[in-house]
Amino acid sequence: MSCVISERDARLGSKIAYEIYIRSFNDSNNDGVGDLRGITERLDYLATLGVDCLWITPFFPSPQNDNGYDVSDYCAIEPKFGTMEDFQELSREAAARGMDLMLDMVFNHTSTEHEWFKRALAGDSKYLAYYKFVDAEPGATEEDPGTPPTNWESKFGGNAWEYVPSLNKWYLHLFDVTQADLNWDNPEVRAELANVLRFWRSNGVSAFRFDVVNLISKPATWEDDHEGDGRRFYTDGPHIHEYLQEMVREGGIDGLMTVGEMSSTSIDNCIRYSNPDCHELGMAFSFHHLKVDYPDGEKWALMDPDIAELRRLFADWQEQMAEGGGWNALFWSNHDQPRPNSRFGDDSTHASWLLSSKMLAVCTHLMRGTPYIYQGEELGMTNPDFASIDQYRDVESINYYRILQERGHSPKEAFHIVHERSRDDSRTPVQWDDTQYAGFSAVEPWIGVDGSYTWLNAAAESNDPNSVLTFFKRLIALRKAEPIIQGGDIRFVDEPAPCVIAYERTLGDERVLVQCNFSGDEQPALDLSGGEVLVSNYDGAADGAILRPWEGTAYIWR
Ligand code: GLC
Repeated sequence: MSCVISERDARLGSKIAYEIYIRSFNDSNNDGVGDLRGITERLDYLATLGVDCLWITPFFPSPQNDNGYDVSDYCAIEPKFGTMEDFQELSREAAARGMDLMLDMVFNHTSTEHEWFKRALAGDSKYLAYYKFVDAEPGATEEDPGTPPTNWESKFGGNAWEYVPSLNKWYLHLFDVTQADLNWDNPEVRAELANVLRFWRSNGVSAFRFDVVNLISKPATWEDDHEGDGRRFYTDGPHIHEYLQEMVREGGIDGLMTVGEMSSTSIDNCIRYSNPDCHELGMAFSFHHLKVDYPDGEKWALMDPDIAELRRLFADWQEQMAEGGGWNALFWSNHDQPRPNSRFGDDSTHASWLLSSKMLAVCTHLMRGTPYIYQGEELGMTNPDFASIDQYRDVESINYYRILQERGHSPKEAFHIVHERSRDDSRTPVQWDDTQYAGFSAVEPWIGVDGSYTWLNAAAESNDPNSVLTFFKRLIALRKAEPIIQGGDIRFVDEPAPCVIAYERTLGDERVLVQCNFSGDEQPALDLSGGEVLVSNYDGAADGAILRPWEGTAYIWR
């Protein structure tokens, strides 16, 4: 049992990151889209919340087919979001409040509007080698290009290859057709991307998130996947660790606050991605726990979350990452996920919304790792009350609304699934106050505001001692005050009921026991005698060994 915590655990375990989805955060120039100055305007709010690091989603020039994850220039600012001066002002003002900016590096692919891709399309062999181009069969035509190099599916639906008639070649796009996968096997590409990191380092940036970075290393030969959608060939691919180590070394970012988004990954790989001895990244986002409501792994189908499976996944990832010296990013929510309280909690009544929003926060915030709060989560924002597909903006949601109907669902069923699963569920404007458009903008925003803004907003919650916001502030302060939360050992406890998740943190003679009831019914609790309440979403202790509906409570023994 450890008595002191390591330097790495103290450093990363005392930090709280906050994700800003720039389009939806705050609009300073009233064009309906959030921007850099909008973030600067809200820094005092973020400083009062107590967060240390602001991950800002991509604000680089981009045609915005995937809202900025289709970058056409890595070293400039998209005019919609502001200017380099705006960025510098934001960085200065954030630093003055003790916060770092974390930039989002989309290095698996570029936009097809990127200069490199345009040169490739013009036939320049240097730039053809920047992407994954594969020759089509002789005689292929636009009308009949033949079969693509593999049967892999794009993550946004359809085949992952696009035919270019003028070149008689296919290019790989694991995401949208306008997001062409880069060829990381080409050392020139790796050097270009390391340069991008050095550029932002020289502009004072000291934290980075890497988008789908475990997909960058593709196999040497192209094979059809007869078991799945192709991901087993390129996930945690053959040279992934080597390429990450090189990027970190050449980009000059070893030891900085970095996080990789790891799609469909494994614990063993994430240990290597995040153990400081491997000189790769600081920590990893993994997503298995956010698939416990996918029937047979299918995102576009519905079921209630399997809490026993959720508990098993948390236990495996928390305990095994700790054993291997890895480090987890802790999160329920981001700009690709529905709102957690609508999904794992209960937003159907005010009481269950309030309790379950807080319980979910207790569950992840006291684990071993670095918590990431997604904008609006600290207010308890929910999935929006959208009633028609016209209200959705996301390319994936719009594609799947069509694909679900092609698969035989009625428009009504397809809509219901999209409503529960859409990435737009978390992309509605942050609800700042109860004025029109929720204080996000003076004009109609690019995506609708949820009707709850009249009562669910930052202004109302700031002065309410019982609000979700006030509760998040308490959890953040607690992590900063308690080394046991930052770096104590973690062990999952056999739960007294299948819908309860319980774990224990220990450091020296101290012990913390966290119990979370993922149901609206009373459940048996573990023995709490001799302990004192560290934090709870209820006032006062429960009678005897009972967990109340949606209770999330931590006790400490000192
Ligand atoms: C990541 C991003 C997502 C984006 C995708 C492609 O998963 O979080 O928003 O669409 O990568 O860049």
